[in-house]
Amino acid sequence: MRRAAAFILLVSCSVLPVLAHSAGRAEKARDTRLEIFSWWTVGGEAEGLAAMFDLYRSLYPSVQLINATVAGGAGSNAKAVLATRMQGGNPPDSFQVHAGHELIDSWVRAGKMEPITFIFQDNKWLDRFPRGLVDIISYKGEIYSVPVNIHRSNVLWYNTRILAAAHMRPPQDLDELMSVCELLSRRGITPLALGDNGIWAAVHLLESVLLGSMGPERYRGLWTGETAWDGPEVRLALIRFAGLMRYVNTDHAALSWDAAVQYVIDGKCAMTIMGDWAEGYFKAKGLTPGRDFGWIVSPGTRGSFIMLSDSFGLPRGAPDRAAAVRWLTLAASREGQDAFNPKKGSIPSRIDGDRTLYDDYQKSAMDSFRTDTIVPSVTHGAAASEGWLAMIQDTMSIFVCDFNIDKATAGLVAAAEKYSHEPAAAVVERSAAPRTP
Ligand code: GAL
Repeated sequence: MRRAAAFILLVSCSVLPVLAHSAGRAEKARDTRLEIFSWWTVGGEAEGLAAMFDLYRSLYPSVQLINATVAGGAGSNAKAVLATRMQGGNPPDSFQVHAGHELIDSWVRAGKMEPITFIFQDNKWLDRFPRGLVDIISYKGEIYSVPVNIHRSNVLWYNTRILAAAHMRPPQDLDELMSVCELLSRRGITPLALGDNGIWAAVHLLESVLLGSMGPERYRGLWTGETAWDGPEVRLALIRFAGLMRYVNTDHAALSWDAAVQYVIDGKCAMTIMGDWAEGYFKAKGLTPGRDFGWIVSPGTRGSFIMLSDSFGLPRGAPDRAAAVRWLTLAASREGQDAFNPKKGSIPSRIDGDRTLYDDYQKSAMDSFRTDTIVPSVTHGAAASEGWLAMIQDTMSIFVCDFNIDKATAGLVAAAEKYSHEPAAAVVERSAAPRTP
């Protein structure tokens, strides 16, 4: 108890003055409630959000917090609800949005967001975030969201007991993944867990297989128009993807991502490829990284980091603007990020997070983020616009049923033709050099 009180005191002393300063710009705003919109409803994502809420409540006890969540991984349901609300002139005070194309193409270009550069300037935080990350949340010289974390998409999680009992090491490349799957399945174990209701988890798997089949430069080229979607590498990736689907749980189309992770926990499946919010889920279930579950970068992608970042923005017309600015300031603060990310499975987007608060998996992600080649996730808004992603999802919805490579290639090519005129996906640089917007 005493430690918790001391923590809150410490946080109050360090965060409060800047929060008050930033919020001071919005004289007319109401200040009694705060509605935060997200899709964080399970495991570590719900716990991480709750930790930020607790911190907010401790600082602003008079504000009523409204946790507006819409269940469905990767925003598969939330994004449609948000769009309806925004179109209807009923925005939440702040909402979860992926850094990169999702933020800029869906909301900023449409004039739906307020610039929040002042939060970074007032607090002198411009040099606290990787410059490349600031670039992908910026438009015409203004910053439009607060990135609260960095997630890694290309991770394979495994049940340590199953692999140890089978005397197998986690697969390093895609050929090895295929042979490990074959051996496991001969022993009657379902090798790979997938929960692709809403289809996004299949696209998530595909992005790892694409990267593992062509390497970071060619993968990046997919989003910048430099790598052909009808070339041999994409074809190989599709063939491999189809091959992997033979080793996936038969009820995959009915499951959510977390149900698939639960299959690994329960020993119903040996492995799964999922972003590191899965780590938050394992931990929320009381499991210890390295002991109860293992991880390795997705086969064939060592040295590359498929990144995405959850961020929060300030919609124009937010009913409780002052409270929202305080929320954003908290989300951008070191204290806020260090309350959220240890539970979420992600790493702080700030460069000065307290490393001692993070577990072994997260420390490995921090190290990789510093040294690996960073490439953007398409499934989670960084690499391409929502329109492009939707066409890829449509293509994959059919592909997971018919495994028709030519048809899938044609669908992916059509998507790229329609959307690759978009500005190239920015790539997060690790440099934290100050940036003057
Ligand atoms: C991602 C999001 C993560 C996690 C995941 C599953 O799109 O960036 O924070 O919530 O969906 O819901």
